[in-house]
Amino acid sequence: MTDPLLRYRSEFPILERTTYLISNSLGAMPRGVYDAMKGYADTWANRGVRAWEERWWMLAAEVGDEIGALINAPKGSVSTHQNVTTCQAVVASCFDWSGKRNKVVYSDMNFPSVMYLWEAQRERGARVHMVKTDDGITVPIERLLDAIDETTLLVPISHVVFRSAFIQDAKAIIEKAHKVGALVVLDTFQSLGTVPVDVQALDTDFACGGVLKWLCGGPGVGYLYVRPDLGKKLEPKLTGWTAHQNPFAFEIGPIRYTDAPYRFMNGTPHVPSLEAARPGLKIIGEVGIERIREKSKHQTARLIELADRHGWRVNTPRDPEKRGGTVSIDMPDSQEVCRELLKREILVDWRPKAGVRMSPHFYNTDEELEVGIGAVEEILKERAVATR
Ligand SMILES: Cc1ncc(COP(=O)(O)O)c(C=O)c1O
Repeated sequence: MTDPLLRYRSEFPILERTTYLISNSLGAMPRGVYDAMKGYADTWANRGVRAWEERWWMLAAEVGDEIGALINAPKGSVSTHQNVTTCQAVVASCFDWSGKRNKVVYSDMNFPSVMYLWEAQRERGARVHMVKTDDGITVPIERLLDAIDETTLLVPISHVVFRSAFIQDAKAIIEKAHKVGALVVLDTFQSLGTVPVDVQALDTDFACGGVLKWLCGGPGVGYLYVRPDLGKKLEPKLTGWTAHQNPFAFEIGPIRYTDAPYRFMNGTPHVPSLEAARPGLKIIGEVGIERIREKSKHQTARLIELADRHGWRVNTPRDPEKRGGTVSIDMPDSQEVCRELLKREILVDWRPKAGVRMSPHFYNTDEELEVGIGAVEEILKERAVATR
């Protein structure tokens, strides 16, 4: 039986030239981005400054709503930013860290960029508690839950861990946080687009991510969902004129906050990136994340099976319910193997403590998995001969 998702392959030019197994890092570019970029240039060239009121000013919120539709967020609750680090910095700036409730609980499996940000909040009064992984794959949920107490203000966690693709039990973490009056910042960068995310069902306070990986949206667009009731009262100190009730009055003095989503934004929006993000978001919406997830479970299972056959170490959960879209495989000389794969047009990446990360998406064929693993086998054989 043919895989119905493969009909989207022709939308992604790079699939004709490479074995593209790296959507955890940068999703393949949809063909439609050429038109989107031309449209952007034409608008700038022909409409000039009028482009702001005719299209560009609203774009940040419109793209926010397009992303919001994929996470079941109410309209107007998702703002757009340059990246996840900025999104979390906006969240951090909403709170007073000088009081008794000043603890941040996170895990060492978070993406380092956001760790650096939270560590830097110590100088503003935050007490940072890091829960360490035991096995390099999972986050010990009991220790994480125990660390969340009455003095905890925020719990920034990855929904899917970038190193191992472990899916955290976000619901349990959010429930515990709410029980003690803490708030959760859910980083859905490695989940949205390959694992379903429903911010209302999870009842998360914040969710953030970017579009360049599983959403095939290119660099430059991060998104921040703020629970609507919080969105009415929080006052980010990382702010600017787009968050003002009347930005074009150019008032002097303190800000008067407008409503979400602009309330959480600050300066001039990143228009070209927003335009580039739209074709990918449209395709993902059309394909449907549930269908992507089903295929992903099947393809990641196949990758694990192939890695096992060779006796390579798999640094990814074996339980499909706990596994996102990536399989991290640590074979001998894995960093060198990764370099060699890239030379052979097999696009993957390598991370310390993970190995080679292979991330099939809805547009990949099952044969491409065999090609990727077959090439690793060949490279290892060649290396063995060369060093004999
Ligand atoms: C879980 C997660 N969070 C955040 C990031 C990147 O953050 P930023 O958008 O600030 O570069 C990544 C990138 O790989 C990631 O995997």
